[in-house]
Amino acid sequence: MCNADEGEPGTYKDRIIMENDPQSLLEGMAICAYAIGATKGFIYCRGEYPYVVDLLKKAIIQAKDKGLLGDFDIEVRMGAGAYVCGEETALIESIEGGRGEPRYKPPYPGVAGLWGKPTIVNNVETFVNLPVIIEKGADWFKSIGAAGYPGTKVFTLTGDVVNKTFIEVPTDTTIREIVFDFGGGIPQGKKFKAVQIGGSSGGFIPEDLLDSPADFDSMQKIGATLGSGAVFVMDQTRDIVDVIERIAQFFEHESCGKCAPCREGTMRVCEIIEKINQGKGIAKDMAVLEKLGRVMSVSCLCGLGQAAPVPVLTTMRHFKADYEAKVTG
Ligand SMILES: Cc1cc2nc3c(=O)[nH]c(=O)nc-3n(C[C@H](O)[C@H](O)[C@H](O)COP(=O)(O)O)c2cc1C
Repeated sequence: MCNADEGEPGTYKDRIIMENDPQSLLEGMAICAYAIGATKGFIYCRGEYPYVVDLLKKAIIQAKDKGLLGDFDIEVRMGAGAYVCGEETALIESIEGGRGEPRYKPPYPGVAGLWGKPTIVNNVETFVNLPVIIEKGADWFKSIGAAGYPGTKVFTLTGDVVNKTFIEVPTDTTIREIVFDFGGGIPQGKKFKAVQIGGSSGGFIPEDLLDSPADFDSMQKIGATLGSGAVFVMDQTRDIVDVIERIAQFFEHESCGKCAPCREGTMRVCEIIEKINQGKGIAKDMAVLEKLGRVMSVSCLCGLGQAAPVPVLTTMRHFKADYEAKVTG
């Protein structure tokens, strides 16, 4: 199964890949199917990309006509706008026709996935790496980028950055290079304030951590994630608490409600952030946010609730002054 749900705000890398080279995705899926002995594949595509679905269907027909897929059949399914359906088990539920809610794990999809059968779920970018690895070899691939996380990564640049574009760079490229060399820096001569990497659930990175390479391990070390590859740049005029309020509202809205820590937690986090942003916060609110965040990260059923506190916790650490300026009591 290919996860092309791409619901993370600010992310559009999978769309760019599928628009420009749907054939590589099919080739990657066919290689995977051959390796694991699968005869049925699905692409679960974001519902807002209907023209991409058309392109994929056309590419599947062309590949079948040329006999390139053998007995491997690929079906395209469209999402209906729920962010949680990008979570692999919710995605499986959605394809089965159930409510788009995550399953308890184990069993993991590799053991019991779609209709109880062993199922591989991978992202578009993962699959399109396969044909070129088979063609040029694993050693060639491993020679590119960071040692522990080799290859390239596609990033989409949004926010207060000169070049609002997408780039594919080796994984040892630093965040500073992404924002300033490829992104062209901050427009209108303003100063850099923060960058959030990986979409709404990603950590906020301040100026003094910009020299960290954008690979999986290095990002983890600074409390951030690579996630969907969204790079959201903020200039000096941005109010961090204001940005966090929008993000908290997003998670409250997108929580599917299946587990209590996420259903209640996203709501409470949102309430407190809104209160702080209105200038009605008290010092204790910060401590409650911290505790709520820690509880959610260990007790929520899926990555949505586990990661929802990351932007809150990282901004309270790196941009404490923005909060303190609004906490009056
Ligand atoms: C709330 C939530 C949304 C997700 N959305 C996506 C998505 O849109 N696309 C995606 O590939 N993975 C998404 N994931 C991650 C998937 O569960 C899964 O880890 C991923 O598809 C595996 O692909 P990869 O290992 O090839 O990166 C999401 C996870 C969570 C918790």
